Amino acid sequence: MAKILTDISRTFNEFLLLPNLTTEECIPENVSLKTPLVKFKKGEEPKYTANIPMVSAIMQSVSGEEMGVALAREGGLSFIYGAQSIEEQAAMVYRVKKHKAGFVISDSNVKSGTTLRDVMALSRKTGHSTVIVTDDGTANGKFLGIVTNKDYRPSKDNLDAPIDNYMTKAEDTISAKKGISLSEANNIIWENKINCLPILTEEGNLKYLVFRKDYEERKNNPNSLLDANKRYIVGAGINTRDYEERIPALVNAGVDILCMDSSDGYSVWQKRTIDFVREKYGDDVKIGAGNVVDAEGFRYLAEAGADFIKVGVGGGSICITRETKGIGRGQASSLIDVVAERNKYFEETGVYIPICSDGGIVHDHHITIALALGADFVMMGRYFARFDESPTKVLKIGNNYVKEYWGEGSNRARNWQRYDLGGNKEKLSFEEGVDSYIPYAGPLKDTLDVTVLKIKSTMCNCGATTIPELHEKARLTLVSDVSISEGKAHDVILKEIDNSYKN
Ligand code: IMP
Repeated sequence: MAKILTDISRTFNEFLLLPNLTTEECIPENVSLKTPLVKFKKGEEPKYTANIPMVSAIMQSVSGEEMGVALAREGGLSFIYGAQSIEEQAAMVYRVKKHKAGFVISDSNVKSGTTLRDVMALSRKTGHSTVIVTDDGTANGKFLGIVTNKDYRPSKDNLDAPIDNYMTKAEDTISAKKGISLSEANNIIWENKINCLPILTEEGNLKYLVFRKDYEERKNNPNSLLDANKRYIVGAGINTRDYEERIPALVNAGVDILCMDSSDGYSVWQKRTIDFVREKYGDDVKIGAGNVVDAEGFRYLAEAGADFIKVGVGGGSICITRETKGIGRGQASSLIDVVAERNKYFEETGVYIPICSDGGIVHDHHITIALALGADFVMMGRYFARFDESPTKVLKIGNNYVKEYWGEGSNRARNWQRYDLGGNKEKLSFEEGVDSYIPYAGPLKDTLDVTVLKIKSTMCNCGATTIPELHEKARLTLVSDVSISEGKAHDVILKEIDNSYKN
């Protein structure tokens, strides 16, 4: 006979936090939102930690390379969408990793004798105004000179002349030797008022470039999520079908964390994908699994070796899985169940597996509720799709500026396979996601800063200055419909119709 859970499926909106004692230390400036992204043993540090507990959803309309850079700059993480060809996804990951590196491998290189016309064409193609001239035209050839767009005038100069006529020759270029630290390199850049410092081997071959703009970017964003080489940390979505080809391509492109993208993670296919990663890469490659909604699903993926586990079925704003298939669970109830099992697993094994609450965040305070219920970070689609940095264009519909936002289970998202794989065999029978508009919200940073401040402020009310402390101390209460009404502005005539505070 079927097992019936008598507990009602609850959502975030049905909970409120209760204040705890706020001590002197509890001020937003003292709050750290640092949170583990991958599993770790008790007493050890996780390999990856985010500085804000937010990641962007594995979706075409959310997580492209621009979001990858913008969110990592703010301390979060993007999972570049997997609903595209392996080559395109790997190229996006590669570009995020290349975007800002303390030590960059030069990717705009030419041979001596190359015409100015060809150099300009290369510059246009790579988007880089600095081009390096080496003896063999490779990134590790003998360094002969450097040319930037300030060295030539396209309208006046002879486009067929060799670049050697325009470049600053090696002997006149300020360079440094391999082995120099990043801060020493930055000092040389500042002292000499240059924009780019080539780092050379003892033999005079090019090794890296260090750019002034990268330094400034880092200074302005101390919260940035960077790897040991000062490159942005980036994730990528994968599926359980083409993983044998997709994962190696993403790993070669430099991806930091993989995540399986599925509305049903409690499956043998996910275990097989994790097995593939462990056989090929051991523990070096990190992989998240999901989505699950209960203790059983969590335990299965934990034992399969997942590095983090994603929770949520049917709660996404564009999701119609519950309507079309009658499967899913209220997001808060899912979290409560999974977190309890995670804590049990931690006690038993000493291994802490971070939990990501995926979907259904409508208001900023839902993030705090998710964290209070035990999530380590949240994945959001709608929230991020609204910003300039998502891959879609701003549209004007009537008097409103909007962006498009569609589910990965909608025909619109799934159609990439039909086109890219030259007519897919898999026939779609129904959709699990809708295609929609959402209000445009400008640059990511402006809204994110407010969201982060709200979370920190609420944590202070709860007497917590870290997320683990919030996990421990949070007290929540269920709310009735009437108390939800009481919590809104009521019985007054609002002077202005301004709903922005409701975010
Ligand atoms: P949101 O933040 O509420 O917009 O939810 C985003 C989440 O919805 C994603 O991270 C996915 O887990 C989920 N999702 C994305 N596309 C679909 C879909 O087409 N159907 C069902 N769920 C989806």
